[in-house]
Amino acid sequence: MRMQGKGVIVTGGASGIGAAAVRRMVEEGARAVIADMNIEAGEALVRDLGEDKARFVRTDVTDQAQVEALFRQAEEFCGVDAVFNNAGIGHQAAAVETTDEEWGQVISINLTGVFRVAREAMRYMQGRGGSIVNCASILGHFGQSQTAPYTAAKGGVVNMTRTLALEGAPDGIRVNSISPGYVDTPLLDLLEQEVKDFLVSLHPVQRLGRPEEVANAALFLASDEASFITGADLPVDGGFLAGKS
Ligand SMILES: NC(=O)c1ccc[n+]([C@@H]2O[C@H](COP(=O)([O-])OP(=O)(O)OC[C@H]3O[C@@H](n4cnc5c(N)ncnc54)[C@H](O)[C@@H]3O)[C@@H](O)[C@H]2O)c1
Repeated sequence: MRMQGKGVIVTGGASGIGAAAVRRMVEEGARAVIADMNIEAGEALVRDLGEDKARFVRTDVTDQAQVEALFRQAEEFCGVDAVFNNAGIGHQAAAVETTDEEWGQVISINLTGVFRVAREAMRYMQGRGGSIVNCASILGHFGQSQTAPYTAAKGGVVNMTRTLALEGAPDGIRVNSISPGYVDTPLLDLLEQEVKDFLVSLHPVQRLGRPEEVANAALFLASDEASFITGADLPVDGGFLAGKS
């Protein structure tokens, strides 16, 4: 039981990679707080796992007051030993077609939201230690047409993670990121099937990732098994980035 007795927060924990991470953390002995906007899916996951193991806290990571309330509720339910900072949205449009509103929405969830949750986690973990795992993307490492705000946000997450790791180290707070390749979750629903087929062909392993495969990486970095790892980015991408460097 790699997370026995630990308390975790998973943002975006009601769906896809986040929901898989909640399941894996609980399987490994953690109690988990699911922080998400999707009330129906979040509460269904709690029913499935049991109210003693998981709690849903409706949270919009773009709202500082809600993030503070999340940590208060998590402290009461399970404490916060680890945070999987995973909430995010997709966006696809040419830069010349991208509005200020679209830019602002992607940045405020995928970058500022990650910062806001990490900052609150670091405030909570001061004097206690802990582990923060930020969800970046392979798109944080290279450019791709039609993804300007998304690549800006994810590139920001990768480099911000290094800075937070430096600041957290004296307090025993580890901060790492993971960079998934394309993973079969509702986030890809905005893509046409032929685009998905093309994406498969870009992965050396010739398939998309499964949410559980990313969840396992988040679990490892959140756990004490990764006790000497901080400031790192772990690709979980079927070899995608190996062909880009
Ligand atoms: N699926 C992929 O191919 C892929 C690839 C690389 C990175 N990622 C990243 O993985 C993370 C999880 O994505 P996923 O594929 O599981 O998608 P998903 O859509 O299945 O899950 C994302 C979750 O985030 C929640 N969310 C959205 N906005 C929120 C907000 N403001 N506050 C709180 N929760 C919010 C959604 O309600 C949803 O439950 C994201 O950060 C995404 O960018 C996904």
